[in-house]
Amino acid sequence: MKIATLESIDVRGKRVLLRCDLNVPLNEGVITDDGRIRASLPTIRYLLEKGAAIVIVAHLGRPKGERKAELSLAPVAKRLSELLGVEVDFSETIIGAKIKPSGITLLENIRYEAGETSKDEKEREALAKELATYADIFISDGFGAVHRKHASVYDIAKILPHAAGYLVSAEVEVLQKLTQSPERPYGVALGGSKVSDKIGVIANLLEKVDVLAIGGGMLFTFLAAQGHEIGKSLVESDLIPTVKEIMARAEKLGVKLLLPTDIVVALEFAADSKPTIVSADAIPSDQMGLDIGPESAKDFADSLSKCKTVFWNGPMGVFEFRNFSNGTKVVADSLTRVSGISVVGGGDSAAAVRKLGFKDSDFGYISTGGGASLEYLEGKQLPGLEVLQ
Ligand code: 3PG
Repeated sequence: MKIATLESIDVRGKRVLLRCDLNVPLNEGVITDDGRIRASLPTIRYLLEKGAAIVIVAHLGRPKGERKAELSLAPVAKRLSELLGVEVDFSETIIGAKIKPSGITLLENIRYEAGETSKDEKEREALAKELATYADIFISDGFGAVHRKHASVYDIAKILPHAAGYLVSAEVEVLQKLTQSPERPYGVALGGSKVSDKIGVIANLLEKVDVLAIGGGMLFTFLAAQGHEIGKSLVESDLIPTVKEIMARAEKLGVKLLLPTDIVVALEFAADSKPTIVSADAIPSDQMGLDIGPESAKDFADSLSKCKTVFWNGPMGVFEFRNFSNGTKVVADSLTRVSGISVVGGGDSAAAVRKLGFKDSDFGYISTGGGASLEYLEGKQLPGLEVLQ
């Protein structure tokens, strides 16, 4: 895949429309992890140095074409300004905004406009045309959204001369390493709540990996497929046949499929629920699994830390609750000991490792894209990258 890089396009003194992924977690208006804002800084700084007038377009959450106050990018504008040490003009007006002739303007959440995510190409194009009036050049740097066929990600690149920003280039470079010639053994750890979100990537990765560790809420569909009682744990029963096929294929291909042997269970989904460790084949019927157990965490960590390439997406348990964060912590720690490349993929996983006290530099690379990096690994075409070629 050949994508024009930031430095290959002359941005000096030009008006640049910059797509960033500033979709950060917020708690009552307070940003709890600013990783995605930080990851956007190198491109912004470069554009500022070149004297470009920058209009940043970004989204927050999924407001579905409505102005929802809690999904305003205003706190992000403030944080961005603090990190850059430069004033960021925040424009609540998205279409027909008065843009400063220099410096940085951040437009309000682009998903307040229904055209952004519309399935109707004409609606998306109409919004993209409005955005194009603000700029001479489009720079795509919102890696976390490149799997979306959205107006400010995809359609805009059909109108304006374009290139990828530093973040998109860096993410693609890392993912290319993982997909083209990963050093072996290659291990992948997947967590998160839904098997349905990960089924595509699991099916695709089985051909490529040596070790596949399954944690998070989705592991219970695997345990159910093995015929175990899973109590009140999360399950996607309709996917049990697919999961059985996956397990059979893994065996045939000689992939070491790691499923937990012990589970931390509790009566309720709550921070103060009393944790109990049980065997994975003996979850009491009135309890729910909220983390992988310590024996499994150690087992996962032993296998993953010996790999030369590791990709991890999705927490192993409910890491937000201290009592159920051990699995995620132990697996994250094992990635810091990988002698080759370790990649943490996804907003949630990135936020988890930072919350658990790890530094970004403990890992080979922290991807800002959850869905985007998974779809890349799945071998899917990502519209926001395709359009840049
Ligand atoms: C993400 O959080 O993964 C990206 O910002 C994309 O968000 P979306 O899944 O709502 O499109």
